[in-house]
Amino acid sequence: MAKVTLNNVWKRYGKVEAVLDLSLDCKDKEFFSLLGPSGCGKSSTLRMIAGLEEISQGEILIGDQVVNEVEPKDRDIAMVFETYALYPHKKVFANMAFPLRVGKQKYSDAEIKKRVNRAAEILEITDFLDRYPKQLSGGQRQRVAIGRAIVREPQVFLLDEPISHLDAKLRTHMRGELKLLQRTLGTTMIYVTHDQMEAMSMADRIAIMNFGVLQQVGTPFEIFNRPVNQFVAGFVGDPPMNFMDCDLEVTAEKWELVNESFRISLPPDLIDRYKENNGDPSSKPKEVVLGIRPENFIVSGKKGGEDNFPADVIVTEPLGEEMIVDIEIPNNKLKLKVSVDHDIKMGDKIWLDVMKNKMHLFNRETEKAYF
Ligand SMILES: Nc1ncnc2c1ncn2[C@@H]1O[C@H](COP(=O)(O)OP(=O)(O)OP(=O)(O)O)[C@@H](O)[C@H]1O
Ligand SMILES: [Mg+2]
Repeated sequence: MAKVTLNNVWKRYGKVEAVLDLSLDCKDKEFFSLLGPSGCGKSSTLRMIAGLEEISQGEILIGDQVVNEVEPKDRDIAMVFETYALYPHKKVFANMAFPLRVGKQKYSDAEIKKRVNRAAEILEITDFLDRYPKQLSGGQRQRVAIGRAIVREPQVFLLDEPISHLDAKLRTHMRGELKLLQRTLGTTMIYVTHDQMEAMSMADRIAIMNFGVLQQVGTPFEIFNRPVNQFVAGFVGDPPMNFMDCDLEVTAEKWELVNESFRISLPPDLIDRYKENNGDPSSKPKEVVLGIRPENFIVSGKKGGEDNFPADVIVTEPLGEEMIVDIEIPNNKLKLKVSVDHDIKMGDKIWLDVMKNKMHLFNRETEKAYF
């Protein structure tokens, strides 16, 4: 069993509160990602799990054992950092064998060879075992660093932005490789990143943090489609979700989202979802924020149905199949992502509808999601 549990964990560096009352449960064999902006406490959390940083308050368990007082080397974990340090004077084989030669447990030469070869095979670096690190590319070196971590066959892998410094193409490639590796080894993995695409594409579940506070834990699908607040909604997705201030006007006949640009009526299922989550609203208009992702608009060249509203095209960025379109409506600048078939040009006037079942609504004060 190699689940990892955090119960009300705090990290303080003097007066700085880096992690506040964090509770998490990473399941056995799960690919779990800690995601959030720079400084939100991801590395501090990972380092406390690894035992490299003292826990200010709360407890951490690996399996069923409380590890607060357990030395890092006795936690049966392996950690890979962004800046991996390979020994430049040792060949790749010796670099990977190193943890097996220095640990408490003694391994025979035959066992060491077997484990290094197996790790090298999984990572497809068998051909490089006889080279020095300086004779490898950045991606190959990073694979050696990961290989060095897996030879010990630990219960838990902790990875802190292990591929952030690689170029974009190699990063995409390594994303797939790491995911496959984790599945092959069946080891619990906690993966820290500030890159939402990385977390979304690799993790079974994601925990999103901001200013040391946990915002939401969920599958990539849940995080993307049911963000609990405006921070999560805006952090995940590229380009980010558009937010527009408006009023929610409720009458016996209909519910409408209203501002100087549009008047959008809510379909019955969204009204039900609102009521389910928040109860009945008052009849007084409510100040809300409407959230729509760039890909959730329907664009046309002329005026359409009731909820349709006009916008001015400021600039277009074609990206092959799709195009990002910056538009302006009164008091708002928005980004759309549409097919290039639309043939939209700078200076055009276009008409928009929103995909209503993809709308998100937030409390303007608390930024919490109504739905
Ligand atoms: N040794 C330290 N002493 C004092 N403050 C620290 C120390 N280490 C981290 N901090 C602070 O704690 C907060 C969380 O830092 P942490 O390194 O955990 O963030 P992070 O989410 O990993 O960020 P990044 O994405 O930039 O790596 C930050 O405000 C940071 O300045
Ligand atoms: Mg960090």
